[in-house]
Amino acid sequence: MENKYHAPVMLQECLDGLSIDPSATYVDVTFGGGGHSNAILSLLNKKGKLVAFDQDEDAKANLPKDDKLIFIDQNFEFMLNHLDYQGLLPVAGILADLGVSSHQFDEAERGFSFRFDEAVLDMRMNYTTGRSAKDLLNQLPEAAIADILYQYGELSNSRALAREIVSYRSLNPIETVGHLKDALKKYTPKFGDYKFFAQVFQALRIEVNQELEVLKSFLIQVPKVLKPGGRLVVMSYHSLEDRLVKNFIQSGNFNGEVEKDLYGNVNRPLLPISRKVVTATPEELEKNPRSRSAKLRIAEKISS
Ligand SMILES: C[S@@+](CC[C@H](N)C(=O)[O-])C[C@H]1O[C@@H](n2cnc3c(N)ncnc32)[C@H](O)[C@@H]1O
Repeated sequence: MENKYHAPVMLQECLDGLSIDPSATYVDVTFGGGGHSNAILSLLNKKGKLVAFDQDEDAKANLPKDDKLIFIDQNFEFMLNHLDYQGLLPVAGILADLGVSSHQFDEAERGFSFRFDEAVLDMRMNYTTGRSAKDLLNQLPEAAIADILYQYGELSNSRALAREIVSYRSLNPIETVGHLKDALKKYTPKFGDYKFFAQVFQALRIEVNQELEVLKSFLIQVPKVLKPGGRLVVMSYHSLEDRLVKNFIQSGNFNGEVEKDLYGNVNRPLLPISRKVVTATPEELEKNPRSRSAKLRIAEKISS
């Protein structure tokens, strides 16, 4: 049956990557609509456990009744502490399906999508805390807005865009998607406006949710959470995330520089399992357009 909340991407590839032992403990740090979690649960026996995280209140509506499931309604930035506190360490596998769910995009009032002009620019995955996109747009200095658009949206004219935002807000606050589009109209390409707004919205979303900092902090915890031979499976949807994941898996740091010990052994906590990045099959691409940008990487904790 089609899942309206979110259709899971590369489901079988993720399960294969986790290489499930039915009696072991797994972690899904991005529960969302529960597509991946439910499939993992169906492969576990009575001894097996799944710990799922999601910081979005809305995800709770999708929780199945299953004694094998432990749900933690927190940011996965704090994965290690929560698992330690609950005596669940170490685990056999961790899955992260990064970014936002289709539900979050489709709910106009969440402000993630540029399809809804009336929507307030919120963009917080956890809408109970933190600064929304409209707060940032109305409060940050021009240079900081330019940096966000440049670094996270890869927009080369970020300074000009930030200038337009600051000039608009000196007359009227920027509250809605429509206001932001209005503020940027001088620089909105006639053709390719979809790509332009996708970049602007991606940049704001990354900043609002501190997505790259959270991802780094999560990755650093992975070797402390996995048992030797345990698997990490990460799906990312833009190159800024994928680069961090790739570098961390290959070199144990974020700049990708491989360090070797005196004997020439590479110092890294994880071993890449998939040589090349895994992408969706043509059949899945046809059925689920969201799978288009998905990049899947699999690694194993080194046994030493
Ligand atoms: C792409 S969706 C996951 C979809 C899920 N795999 C499924 O099959 O339904 C990402 C989910 O992770 C949650 N999320 C993203 N970043 C998070 C974080 N740092 N901490 C906790 N949850 C997060 C979002 O709220 C969203 O529900």
